[in-house]
Amino acid sequence: MYEQEIVYALILAALLLLLARRRMNPLYRIPAVGPSAPILSYGGALKFSVNAREMLQEGYTKYRGSVFRVPLMDRWLVVVSGAAMNEELRKLPDDQMSFLDAAEDLLQAKYTIAKDILRNPIHIPVIRGPFTRNLAAFMPDVADEIASAVQEAVPDAGDEWVGVVASPAMARVVCRASNRVFIGLPMCRNPEFLEIVLNYTKDVGKSRFIMALTPILFKPIVGSLLPWSKNTLKKIAVLVGPLVNETFRQFEDHGKKWEDRPKNLLTWLTEEAKAAGHGPEVVISALLSSNFTAIHTSAISVTHALYHIAACPEFVPPLRKEIEVAVNKYGWGKQAIGEMWKLDSFMRESQRVNGTSGVSVMRKALVDLRLAGGTVIPAGTLLCAAADATHCDDENYEDAGVFKPFRFSDMSAEESERIKHQFVSTSPEYVPFGHGKHACPGRFFVGNELKMIIAYLVLNYDMKFEDDGPRPPNKWLSVTVIPDPSAKVYFRKRQTGSV
Ligand code: HEM
Ligand SMILES: *[C@@H]1O[C@H](CO)[C@@H](O)[C@H](O)[C@H]1NC(C)=O
Ligand SMILES: *[C@@H]1O[C@H](CO)[C@@H](O)[C@H](O)[C@H]1NC(C)=O
Ligand SMILES: *[C@@H]1O[C@H](CO)[C@@H](O)[C@H](O)[C@H]1NC(C)=O
Ligand SMILES: *[C@@H]1O[C@H](CO)[C@@H](O)[C@H](O)[C@H]1NC(C)=O
Repeated sequence: MYEQEIVYALILAALLLLLARRRMNPLYRIPAVGPSAPILSYGGALKFSVNAREMLQEGYTKYRGSVFRVPLMDRWLVVVSGAAMNEELRKLPDDQMSFLDAAEDLLQAKYTIAKDILRNPIHIPVIRGPFTRNLAAFMPDVADEIASAVQEAVPDAGDEWVGVVASPAMARVVCRASNRVFIGLPMCRNPEFLEIVLNYTKDVGKSRFIMALTPILFKPIVGSLLPWSKNTLKKIAVLVGPLVNETFRQFEDHGKKWEDRPKNLLTWLTEEAKAAGHGPEVVISALLSSNFTAIHTSAISVTHALYHIAACPEFVPPLRKEIEVAVNKYGWGKQAIGEMWKLDSFMRESQRVNGTSGVSVMRKALVDLRLAGGTVIPAGTLLCAAADATHCDDENYEDAGVFKPFRFSDMSAEESERIKHQFVSTSPEYVPFGHGKHACPGRFFVGNELKMIIAYLVLNYDMKFEDDGPRPPNKWLSVTVIPDPSAKVYFRKRQTGSV
């Protein structure tokens, strides 16, 4: 009898202690969207995985100018609300708000991608530096790959309309175009290589799902048991290893003077790794990791843009005219793309209303801190900006709910204004690429690449949905925005003057 009472008393004491700790924790003073009580918040997390858009919008509207929290499976995500708060978040210094730690927590990259990738993120300076500096030199290769990939994706049907499931077709085009400059010919077309990395994409997805469900305490154990990323790295090392080792050897023989080095990501990653004293394994991990961040987002983004075109063919004639003038003048390269201001505006508007994610500017608090409005953020908290809600806010855009493709090009006749409103420029009101110091370093490349794909399609095809139908609705998977994966776009070879 007596023992039983002691057990009850102990359980009660433990519960009281837990409640007291909750009351003391400033995190619980931040208003929550969805149920906040222990256990019940798991229901909220399930709801968030299917209704993220509505929950983020609800919090944004209620707590504009402040912060709120939404439940994930293993923790709370604190969301800052409104352009001014986006600006405050991105301005906090790295030693208080870390981008890399947030990425590590959310993606569990050390278990799902490769063990060392966040300790040696050599791809970040390389993409920001030599890769972006050499855009003009390698964009003609990208154009060449796009032409060949589009011709493969859209079967030749003479003068007839032909239906193509757009999402996987665009993913393949983006994948080929990007890998042409990530690893170069002929490896970018090697079927075994493509299969390994394609499998890998699925495996990273599976691993992330498992890690998201695993309580923080057990993550290291569960993570170390996941077999996939290790197996892939082994397979890929066998295939790509000789190429990477050869690149290392060339740099050893010629040093910086290696004149005719291939202009691709692999080359510059190797240069960076050598300078930092790393071996070939780090190059392989960085290659896989860049590819992983790059392909998925780019494919979603270009599919959104294609859907906007197929739904509204009336936007095509002004685009065509602009593209033709630029290509006739400069040929297919970075310079021509740089002249296409209407297309640039179209892409920016497409990404504003239909982005790749409901949140961005991810950060993790490394210390306890107080935001300007007085909210206390305890160390260890994950924060982000409400990207989609920011972009749909009438305070930030006139008729924010309306897709106006030439909104930005009409707005800005002056050169300096144009630059401010171009596709790749971030601002507190425009955060699809993040904002601030950690804004996506791949955006200058991807801006050129995606405009090139759309330009090629617009010049060579007429496009529509079946029965001239509207744009199919997006799917949301937690915070990821996915354009309808099975919708068909109908293509017809342009009757006159295709290039
Ligand atoms: C439409 C396509 C893309 C979108 C929407 C996108 C979006 C983003 C976002 C939101 C971030 C985080 C920024 C922040 O939290 O402030 C990011 C980071 C990053 N992106 Fe992209 N990205 C795209 C394409 C690419 C491509 C093609 C590459 C590589 C060539 C790339 C490489 C990276 C890297 C390396 C980071 C980490 C930056 C850092 O740690 O400082 N991205 N991207
Ligand atoms: C990148 O990922 C895609 C699939 O998402 C794959 O098909 C492609 O070959 C990969 N490339 C590299 C260099 O890892
Ligand atoms: C890719 O995955 C499939 C099915 O899981 C498997 O049969 C195949 O061997 C994998 N390919 C490679 C090259 O690892
Ligand atoms: C590449 O070099 C590393 C050591 O630098 C070595 O361990 C590995 O076996 C080499 N790989 C191939 C495929 O030659
Ligand atoms: C995508 O675009 C459509 C049509 O313009 C719009 O109704 C929808 O709300 C958009 N945004 C997202 C993120 O789903």
